[in-house]
Amino acid sequence: MDGNGRWAESRGLPRTEGHRAGEDALFDVVDGCLEAGVRWLTVYAFSTENWRRPRDEVKFLINFNEEILLRRRDELNERDVRIRFVGRRDWRVPKRLIRRMNESSELTRDNRKLTFTIAFNYGGRAEIVDAVRAIAASGVKPDKITEKMIKRHLYDPEMPDPDLVVRSSGEYRISNFLLWELAYSELYFTEVLWPEFRRSDLFDAIHEYQVRERRFGGVGQGS
Ligand code: FPP
Repeated sequence: MDGNGRWAESRGLPRTEGHRAGEDALFDVVDGCLEAGVRWLTVYAFSTENWRRPRDEVKFLINFNEEILLRRRDELNERDVRIRFVGRRDWRVPKRLIRRMNESSELTRDNRKLTFTIAFNYGGRAEIVDAVRAIAASGVKPDKITEKMIKRHLYDPEMPDPDLVVRSSGEYRISNFLLWELAYSELYFTEVLWPEFRRSDLFDAIHEYQVRERRFGGVGQGS
């Protein structure tokens, strides 16, 4: 959900206003997923690197995430959306936010239409480190470690590898997002700044995805 800060700065507003405007974009995309039948949506809300931002912005983002959960969880629940989280729950994440996360997941745990995963204090490398630590702690012999075993130790082993990754705001990087999971994902980049992103932009991305040929390292169907 990139470009919130630039969107705000270009209007002479504080960066945090960009994050606020990003909420409408996010929930329009959630609606778009429900409309299009997308079953899994994962958003990058706060990275392990975002702690390096100015204190006030970090504080804002933590409170804003909590506020969104409180304000939106009932409507998401009514719409059959299951809320989940991936990321490190270390000392830096306030206990109150962890409580809201647990409540939101618990409230929506039986919903099935869309799984909406929020990556908070998430880093792809940290996720792999955490998985490897858990495996090492289990005492398994090194030659018994497989890709499947690593997958089973990721934050949410049920999450399927993403088919499509969309990055807004003209940044052409992965930035530590779902590093293990997106080995074969299709990447889609758009110049649209996140606060202006709407479901129509998601549908454009899906249309482009539909004409791509996915080979997963094999040869194409026409070959
Ligand atoms: C990146 O824009 C955006 C973020 C770091 C946060 C986005 C978070 C939300 C919209 C709230 C999500 C909340 C929930 C509960 C899902 P940026 O600040 O990096 O923008 P820039 O690239 O223009 O600086």
